[in-house]
Amino acid sequence: MIPLLEWAGRQALFTLDPETAHGLSITALKTGMPICAPAPQDARLALRIAGLDFPNPLGVAAGYDKNAEVPDALLGLGFGFAEVGTVTPLPQQGNPRPRIFRLVADGAVVNRLGFNNDGHARCLERLTARKTRPGIVGVNIGANKDAEDRIADYEAGIRRFAPLASYLTVNISSPNTPGLRDLQGRERLAELLARVVEARRQAVGEPARATPVFLKIAPDLTEADLDDVAAEVLDKGIDGLIVSNTTLARDGLSSRAHAREPGGLSGRPLFARSTAVLARMRRRLGPAVPIVGVGGVDDTETALEKIRAGADLVQLYTGMIYRGPSLAGRIVGGMLKFAEQEGLTTIAAIRDSRLDHWAGQPI
Ligand SMILES: Cc1cc2nc3c(=O)[nH]c(=O)nc-3n(C[C@H](O)[C@H](O)[C@H](O)COP(=O)(O)O)c2cc1C
Repeated sequence: MIPLLEWAGRQALFTLDPETAHGLSITALKTGMPICAPAPQDARLALRIAGLDFPNPLGVAAGYDKNAEVPDALLGLGFGFAEVGTVTPLPQQGNPRPRIFRLVADGAVVNRLGFNNDGHARCLERLTARKTRPGIVGVNIGANKDAEDRIADYEAGIRRFAPLASYLTVNISSPNTPGLRDLQGRERLAELLARVVEARRQAVGEPARATPVFLKIAPDLTEADLDDVAAEVLDKGIDGLIVSNTTLARDGLSSRAHAREPGGLSGRPLFARSTAVLARMRRRLGPAVPIVGVGGVDDTETALEKIRAGADLVQLYTGMIYRGPSLAGRIVGGMLKFAEQEGLTTIAAIRDSRLDHWAGQPI
């Protein structure tokens, strides 16, 4: 259930075009006004993943706070971690507007923003200003559209943000920068990951203090592609995988308006595909490599199901557009209630309990 005030707020925001509504929501968060009750803190929800201590497994996915303007306000909504970005070395306008579309009947969004962002320098300034604050803030890095050497843009992102970020996400899965997803192919991926790991070594020195690097993949990969990604992640010692970004697929949509807009689809229709890919990657990577499950999470049950399919951590974005800013607190509260009812000492106990089911679903 969405609280009444929040529902009214959503109705008002939905009369605006999606990008204006998004800008307003960032402005509201910047005011620092308490928007909803704090999420519960409980040892049963806490996890240590990739050497980081997460207060709970639910994070806000990249793309909401592209410019690191409100990471602390997002943590204040109940998220256990916030991922800012995607940031590219130089500021970028992105694609012409309109470039975000709501598919209301499907609880989905199509976006073709194209990495609009303020660039590394501005984002670094903002993160430096909050450096002493607690909370896990990851930085998602990308490449400028016109970069001659795209891998060099990722190296620059690692060098810039490794000293400051809780973790770094190498995002090669946006469908809105032409050719970017080609970096997921075996040879290019091998080169990218080798150079990223070397850039991190140079940036932080001793391996013990190395900032974890996660790789974020598309849900539109074949079984052979997934084999290649898994092999390279293991070979290069990447610290974790984020599954998944938006999809190019348009299966099973009931919305007519905007369904054919070019771009990446997120939200409820992405849940099954992204969860099936997540379970396949858990099978390929084994139990030790951290995986973050993203795509179509919009309530406690879908968040728990990502964990059952093999995720250590979960993220969401589109769910918050439809269900409002109190969603994080409601999901975290629901997870705690579930742990109590089931007598669990840790929510991580349910991980992989539906791995076989999800790994058997078609992609
Ligand atoms: C408007 C919008 C902008 C996004 N921008 C980014 C981005 O800059 N970088 C990124 O890695 N993912 C981006 N994403 C993808 C999300 O992080 C997430 O992987 C995807 O939307 C699936 O999760 P969801 O169904 O909970 O939204 C964006 C998604 C949306 C809807």
